[in-house]
Amino acid sequence: MTTKSQELLNWIDERFPLTSTWKEHLSEYYAPKNFNFWYFFGSLALLVLVIQILTGIFLVMHYKPDASLNASGIPVAFASVEYIMREVPGGWLIRYLHSTGASAFFIVVYLHMFRGLLYGSYRKPRELIWIFGTLIFLALMAEAFMGYLLPWGQMSFWGAQVIVNLFSAIPVIGPDLSVVIRGDFVVSDATLNRFFSFHVIAVPLVLIGLVVAHIVALHEVGSNNPDGVEIKKKKDANGIPLDGIPFHPYYTVKDIVGVVGFLIFFTAIVFFAPEGGGYFLEYNNFIPADPLKTPPHIAPVWYFTPFYSILRAVTYPLFGIDAKFWGVVAMGAAVVIIAFLPWLDRSPVKSIRYKGGLFKGILAVFIVSFFILGYLGVLPPTPGRTLVAQICSVIYFAFFLAMPWYSKLDKCKPEPDRVTFK
Ligand code: HEM
Repeated sequence: MTTKSQELLNWIDERFPLTSTWKEHLSEYYAPKNFNFWYFFGSLALLVLVIQILTGIFLVMHYKPDASLNASGIPVAFASVEYIMREVPGGWLIRYLHSTGASAFFIVVYLHMFRGLLYGSYRKPRELIWIFGTLIFLALMAEAFMGYLLPWGQMSFWGAQVIVNLFSAIPVIGPDLSVVIRGDFVVSDATLNRFFSFHVIAVPLVLIGLVVAHIVALHEVGSNNPDGVEIKKKKDANGIPLDGIPFHPYYTVKDIVGVVGFLIFFTAIVFFAPEGGGYFLEYNNFIPADPLKTPPHIAPVWYFTPFYSILRAVTYPLFGIDAKFWGVVAMGAAVVIIAFLPWLDRSPVKSIRYKGGLFKGILAVFIVSFFILGYLGVLPPTPGRTLVAQICSVIYFAFFLAMPWYSKLDKCKPEPDRVTFK
């Protein structure tokens, strides 16, 4: 470094912890040397978060949250999205990056969570990282749900109608609660305005705060790894973990490889199949919202469908309360239960590499039934499909609730002393 830039850095360091922060979180943050491709998804989730915020800022410049009809009888909000797509230079790209980005966010986050499940990254001392993660997942669901109303298409309108109506099933407070959420007795301009406000500022602020907490908690305890071995247990004379390498430059460079791979995949979809065959942007949403015309089949976007299936699988009333209410409870519980994993898994080892056949088999059944739930959620229900959804919902909950037993019964292999690395 030249003396001038060193002087500038000293000047800053005397007033702001720049060098010490850089060292603590990057150049002297020691991460296990055996990260594999599963470890790309945390930095990719950060990347997608930035893409969503940047494209969102530009969308808001032309988008109008207004349900009134323009001179051609089209809702202003819907027309403003079409204006972005057809008239604003590059507007189509910004919009598709954002709408396809929503699906990419969930793909990346689901894979990131699955990595946690594979390597037991939620186990002590990483419980808080996991809890912040579950809260991020909840906030992400709220963010995506409210964003989907904004184009004010048929699916936006009717999807919001169905989901907000669910809240009215809660005994006593339900009907009033759903009016508060909508700001009206039906989904209307007031709903559009408050969802817009939540989508562009309130929930993103919460999300960013949670992501910061997530990473601060991670850097406090250090990363887990594919072997589930605590690298801090074996340190050299300088207190540096024997199996650790500085995050920068090793993992900054490795993460760039992940970013390039992701961007190739992501831009290919944005340019060639932005609607994702009707899964990322549903066909019905290219029709302006019409409160007088209910679409024959209303389905949420793919990332909600496993949980939507669980909701629909509950068909029996209980204690004199409507099945709809218990469906809502089951759907909520399906998300909340994820936060309890650190206390449900009693296995003597963290990583799937050293777990036995019992755990692996049950995990495989869980994944298959999660996919089946996701698939059933996009289809209209029939008695046969409802039965399958009920079986898969039971498997979903049993995976979590029976974990304290089967994770203990499982015949695990001994964990190695040091990480394995070739
Ligand atoms: C906006 C969403 C999210 C962002 C930006 C994010 C970011 C990150 C980053 C950068 C890391 C470190 C790199 C890595 O280990 O891959 C990480 C680790 C981790 N994340 Fe997330 N995350 C998000 C959502 C979630 C969710 C939803 C969960 C689980 C419910 C979760 C659970 C974890 C765990 C357990 C670790 C530690 C992994 C380990 O040390 O093996 N994260 N996250």
